[in-house]
Amino acid sequence: YGTSKITENGELSIGGCPVSQLTETYGTPLYVYDEDFIREQMRAYKRPFERAHLPHRIAYACKAFCTIGMCQLADSEGLWLDIVSEGELYTAIRAGIHPSHMCMNGNNKSDHELRYAVEVGVGLIVVDNFYEIDLLASILHEQNRSMDILLRVAPGVEAHTHEFISTGQQDSKFGFDLKSGQVQQAVKQVKEHKELQLVGLHSHIGSQIFDVEGFRLAAHRLAEQYAWLLQNYELHLHVLNLGGGLGVRYTEEDTPTPIETLTEELIAVTKEAFLTHGMDLPLLMLEPGRSIVAQAGTTLYTVGSRKEIPHVRTYVAVDGGMTDNPRLALYGAKYEAALAMRMHEQPTESIAIAGKCCESGDMLIWDAPLPQSHPGDLLAITCTGAYNYSMASHYNRIPNPAAILVKDGTARTIVKRETVEDLCRFDVRLE
Ligand code: LLP
Repeated sequence: YGTSKITENGELSIGGCPVSQLTETYGTPLYVYDEDFIREQMRAYKRPFERAHLPHRIAYACKAFCTIGMCQLADSEGLWLDIVSEGELYTAIRAGIHPSHMCMNGNNKSDHELRYAVEVGVGLIVVDNFYEIDLLASILHEQNRSMDILLRVAPGVEAHTHEFISTGQQDSKFGFDLKSGQVQQAVKQVKEHKELQLVGLHSHIGSQIFDVEGFRLAAHRLAEQYAWLLQNYELHLHVLNLGGGLGVRYTEEDTPTPIETLTEELIAVTKEAFLTHGMDLPLLMLEPGRSIVAQAGTTLYTVGSRKEIPHVRTYVAVDGGMTDNPRLALYGAKYEAALAMRMHEQPTESIAIAGKCCESGDMLIWDAPLPQSHPGDLLAITCTGAYNYSMASHYNRIPNPAAILVKDGTARTIVKRETVEDLCRFDVRLE
């Protein structure tokens, strides 16, 4: 992907940096992020809007990979940040992002988090539930402020990878249920608070979505609400947030529509939905996370032990595992691997790539076709940029790897490698 290349002697190079040089300097496991690739994904989201001269707002859902450097990158490309907790808000502020370019999501924002968001002046809050309407209003009232809000809607469209299902009564912890009239009830409640400026609705139908169909249905259901609210409450909502969810290619089984094409289609179906109700397209907002960073990330490991079970399976273990990438253990996610110094060699065996944790479920890939590997070989797993570092753990007291950003033959640290002292930092010795 991106700027990844294979050198003449069969070595993987990312952002113009041969991987052996990276691991000599930074060690393994190592998250390597391709800066040009990240920037290109961000630009791909903006191009269709710019071509059509349409106002838009792309907010990077930083849950996918939330670090100070990554927030800076998103900001430098003119993206907003979608944040969901005090920690993400703090990180974005430490990155120097202007709070007016942040949008806050979450189904149970605490009093403390909402206060923090109000005090710094976050640009937009996506209100999720009835409790939050009153909580936010009272905080704003106390501080004599007002704030733009969206209401999170559960539109009854649920996307499961490249399929979507339309459920009558969506069973989800997020948002106001559309079918049962909760959205209209919420609007009524919002109107009682002059501190809350309702500017639009929000829906996020799921993740790892490959085509536009789920978005089309959601846009139609939302457009109907915009029309209803205009007719009945003379409420003109001028923002529409369709969330994130665009899919990426983890393995050859995945065939997502490219970002630029899907965004173009998304604009078209949303326009059509609003036209059907005699309305103009509101300012469209998107919150992509995975599709910005997943494919830009590669994890480098060192191969260690090997266990061959005759006629059953061969396990090859690496120096990381579910602590740096829990997605197979959690979701059964599939990945691809390569021997990073021997990219020209043909596969000769199919192995299971295991982690080093004391747990059988600590696997990275069940079935990886690879040339015969030896202890000390470098192994690369691709497409690990999203929801890997951000979901990493310290299980078995394993420190989190470093993350670096590569571009034009230069590497920059974006997250330092943790040490074992770091792991004991919060432990209190019994006296
Ligand atoms: N907006 C909202 C309100 C969200 O809940 C999410 C993701 C996004 C945007 C970004 O979605 P994306 O573009 O990244 O699909 N840990 C899981 C993914 C959880 C996604 C949660 N919400 C995984 O590793 O697959």
